[in-house]
Amino acid sequence: MSTFKPAVWPRKLRSTEWFGGNSRDHIYHRSWMKNQGLPADLFDGRPVIGICNTWSQLTPCNAHLRDLAERVKHGIYEAGGLPLEFPVFSPGESSLRPTAMMYRNMAAMDVEEALRANPLDGVVLLAGCDKTTPALLMGAASVDIPAIVVSGGPMLNGWFRGERVGSGTALWQMSEDIKAGKMSREDFLEAEQSMSRSPGSCNTMGTASTMASMAEALGMALSGNAAIPAVDSRRRVMAHLTGRRIVQMVKDDLKPSDIMTRQAFENAIRVNGAIGGSTNAVIHLLAIAGRVGVDLTLDDWDRLGQDISTIVNLMPSGKYLMEEFFYAGGLPVVIRMLGEGGKLHKSALTASGQTIWEEVKDVRNWNEDVIRPVDKALTAKGGIAVLRGNLAPRGAVLKPSAASKQLMQHRGRAVVFEDIDDYKAKINDESLDIDENCVMVLKNCGPRGYPGMAEVGNMGLPPKVLRKGITDMVRISDARMSGTAYGTVVLHTTPEAAAGGPLAVVRNGDMIELDVEARRIHLDIPDEELRQRLAEWKPTVEAPTSGYIKLFHDHVQGADSGADFDFLKGCRGAGIPKDSH
Ligand code: FES
Repeated sequence: MSTFKPAVWPRKLRSTEWFGGNSRDHIYHRSWMKNQGLPADLFDGRPVIGICNTWSQLTPCNAHLRDLAERVKHGIYEAGGLPLEFPVFSPGESSLRPTAMMYRNMAAMDVEEALRANPLDGVVLLAGCDKTTPALLMGAASVDIPAIVVSGGPMLNGWFRGERVGSGTALWQMSEDIKAGKMSREDFLEAEQSMSRSPGSCNTMGTASTMASMAEALGMALSGNAAIPAVDSRRRVMAHLTGRRIVQMVKDDLKPSDIMTRQAFENAIRVNGAIGGSTNAVIHLLAIAGRVGVDLTLDDWDRLGQDISTIVNLMPSGKYLMEEFFYAGGLPVVIRMLGEGGKLHKSALTASGQTIWEEVKDVRNWNEDVIRPVDKALTAKGGIAVLRGNLAPRGAVLKPSAASKQLMQHRGRAVVFEDIDDYKAKINDESLDIDENCVMVLKNCGPRGYPGMAEVGNMGLPPKVLRKGITDMVRISDARMSGTAYGTVVLHTTPEAAAGGPLAVVRNGDMIELDVEARRIHLDIPDEELRQRLAEWKPTVEAPTSGYIKLFHDHVQGADSGADFDFLKGCRGAGIPKDSH
């Protein structure tokens, strides 16, 4: 049972400040709206629902969201609300440079300001591609009006010569195969045609699918939302039902702060472990929690995820893709299994008005190879390992389910790349002094360094190592990695190199020790020498002097704070700004 008490209905809504009267200003606001052909009775005090749309042809994963918005509108009208669709900045992962992550906070600001400044009582958040889901949740959390997510849904499975082609995962694999001489360029180009067969987001358990799962696990979407393929008719049904539901959420005054409680975040962290979710979820959930006032930390990730088995057999950790996850029953099955194992706060409230347990308790698993029983888990200890040590005083992360067992405890000689250009210039050089036992170190790819914290942490291996049949090496950086990627990769090292973190002073030939079980990452030089090197360190990344990039550089926080802007933390509420007329 949840303790939430619905508000009394009918009551005066915030939209009536714009539409609910006969003053000059009320007439002004209504009259201009009516140029869209809206009948007068739609302004009778009924809930006005925004449909916040990240549709964009420049964000191909979200290019079908206009259609879903229409389905949401059907539901809103049916339930007695007035839907008004509006666009927000859409950070698309596949094309934006230097990285879509540099624009997540900008999109979140856009959402927050649009929600507060407009005559809206509630909002449906239409998202899909990696950064769009967290950006919308961050913005909505900072305003705290009733909000619910509809995801665009994943693409259909890719197939190439009888094999599944997972978005991203296959691309990384094939490009390594080319370097190793195992695949021709012609075959690679042919495979390109089979990777993206339909509208939708990446079909692996990459960041987009992970964040859709996080939205559902947090309770911010209707149960089952995460996995329905973009082109399945049930995706449209989900949009329609969500449109109906948001109207009741406004009547009940069921807000993000009622749903996204500490219990909800703890559920989401455990779900991330069970699905083998992206390391990017760590950053995004920390940022969302910061907006809604939940004091989530990196240590929560380690503590709560440690004993969670990865049971979802999807790439990049496993074999299948999101289509099969949906056919097996999708995320509700995973949540039910966590609940049965005592790893779920069952009373956490969801957007449906039901508890999370009420939503999932009766669902069935239709394919036990896709969603494995715990005793046949992919990785007994999934979750996210949070590493600390003199190389990462404020933490670094590693995804055990995507790493190689034999490298989880490793000591190796550092081969240092000062930045991504240095890496690109050297990695294919046959004279590079490197072998499979070395530790690849990449600097200046954190939030300030890149800027934006690019997904380059899973650096490709040198060709001469790949030709030996080696597919993994220990890699360390302050970057992120794509949720579709894999390997024994230490990410998000904080403080980052560009902020003078210890990563900045690692030198070629230093010895580095990784011990995932002990949660340790260590630069094996005397303390005094480390102090000396840090004292002598000088910034190598030039600070930008104008534009959004300056705002970003000056205000972005470390990965351990979700890389949000310092001035955006917290909920600023839905107070109605002054009118200008
Ligand atoms: Fe958009 Fe993967 S690139 S979801």
